[in-house]
Amino acid sequence: MIACTLDRPNEKILPLLFAAATARELGAEKVGLVAPYLAYMRQDRRFKPGEAVTSRQVAELLSNAFDWLVTVDPHLHRHGSLAEIYRIPTRVVHAAPLISRWIKMHVPKPFVIGPDSESEQWVAAVAEDSSAPYAVLQKVRRGDRDVEISAASLPELDGRAPVLVDDIISSGRTMIEAVRLIVQCGAPNPVCVAVHGLFAEDSDKLLARAGARVVTSNSIPHSTNNIDVAEALGNSISELLKLTSKR
Ligand code: R5P
Repeated sequence: MIACTLDRPNEKILPLLFAAATARELGAEKVGLVAPYLAYMRQDRRFKPGEAVTSRQVAELLSNAFDWLVTVDPHLHRHGSLAEIYRIPTRVVHAAPLISRWIKMHVPKPFVIGPDSESEQWVAAVAEDSSAPYAVLQKVRRGDRDVEISAASLPELDGRAPVLVDDIISSGRTMIEAVRLIVQCGAPNPVCVAVHGLFAEDSDKLLARAGARVVTSNSIPHSTNNIDVAEALGNSISELLKLTSKR
C-alpha cells in the first residue's frame, strides 16, 4: 500500500507510478493507493475545445498502476462516482460527518452556507448532521481567478454564526468572494471549512486578510488542519484489503 496525497500532483505522479511498478517487481501481489486528495478531478469535461479531460486520464494511469484506491471526497460533479472512470475497486471517505462534529464542538448556533451549487452535496449533509439551517449561494466562474458570488437573497441568519463549507480551497477566490458577500450583508466574519486545502498561490494568506478563519481536514497537510480523516481512511483501507485479498 502506498500513501500519497496528490496535491501538487505533477511532481508526485511519476515517482508514484515508479514506486508501484517497483513494488510489483520486488514481489508485491497487490498494490493499493491511499490518496486522501485525488488530483485533476475538477477537469471533468473539455471546458474549451482541445483541452484534456484529465480526471479520466489520471484515472486511467492510476487504474493501470494500482489494484485499489482509497480517497477522501473526490470532486464528483459531472462524474457520478469514481466507478465511472476508475477500473479498480475504490472507497471514498466522506468528510461531512467529521466536519459536522467539528462545527458542533466549535461553533455555537451555526448557519451552514455553500458558496455554489456544486457544494450543495456537502453543505446539505453537514447541515443535517449539525442540526443547522443551510443556504447555497450562486457562483459564476469566468477564469481561475475571476469568480463572482451572489445570492438571490441571503437568508436571515437570525443571530447564527455563518460557516462556509466547500470541498476544495484552491485559488481561494470562491471562499474570498463568499466571505465578502456575507460580510457586506452585515453578518459576522464566517468560518470557512473545506475538506481539501490546496491553497494555491498563498491563498491562505489572502483568506486571512479577508477576515476568515479557515479550517481544513488533514487530507493535505497545512496549518489549518483541524479535522482528522485518518481513522475513517483506516476503516476504508481495511475494507478494501479484505475485499481484494479474496480475489
Ligand atoms: C468547485 O466547484 C469547487 O467545489 C470549489 O468551489 C472550487 O474548486 C474552489 O476553487 P477556488 O478556491 O480556486 O475558487
